[in-house]
Amino acid sequence: MTQEKKHLAIFASGTGSNAQKIIRHFKNSTRATIDIIVCNNPGAGVLLVAANESIPVLMVEKKSFTDSGYVEELKSRRIDFIILAGFLWKLPPVLIDAYHGKIINIHPALLPSYGGKGMYGNAVHAAVIEAKEKQSGITIHYVDDKYDHGEIIFQKTCPVNENETVESLAKKVHELEHTYYPEQIEKLLDKI
Ligand code: GRF
Repeated sequence: MTQEKKHLAIFASGTGSNAQKIIRHFKNSTRATIDIIVCNNPGAGVLLVAANESIPVLMVEKKSFTDSGYVEELKSRRIDFIILAGFLWKLPPVLIDAYHGKIINIHPALLPSYGGKGMYGNAVHAAVIEAKEKQSGITIHYVDDKYDHGEIIFQKTCPVNENETVESLAKKVHELEHTYYPEQIEKLLDKI
């Protein structure tokens, strides 16, 4: 029996390099489609990615997001699963409740360390280097009502070298994200 395709939403507010990789991964998939990009930043690079890939965008505004989580819009588009890829706002309870166990995030370090409010982008890598960690990496996790807190699904490490810079570590971590995020999403489709 052929299963119906899953409908995925990507929430992103930055460059969108992960969004790009995920979109490419599912482009000809029989299992899932990326139906929408949800974005809160009118200047985000991900909007260009969406335009190039002909994926609709839902621009969200803070008050409505906090109040409604745009749950109605997502449900009306039959979204089954939400992928955060560089979306910086905390998700409101109404959205987390509506998509319980169906929202994941990727974090550019090995949680539970180097997570929490303010821990994003280069701040994460700077903290890892400052603490003289020997390794960093990525964490893919379910999203709950606390920053970078939900159950961990997958981690992958990379070495932090003696002469590591924020830029060189960011590059390594981004490469891990691009390699593993799409395939981990694919694996989760069975569970949705
Ligand atoms: C990634 O590093 C991810 O870990 C974090 O946000 C960043 C998004 O990067 N949650 P990009 O916009 O996909 O390049």
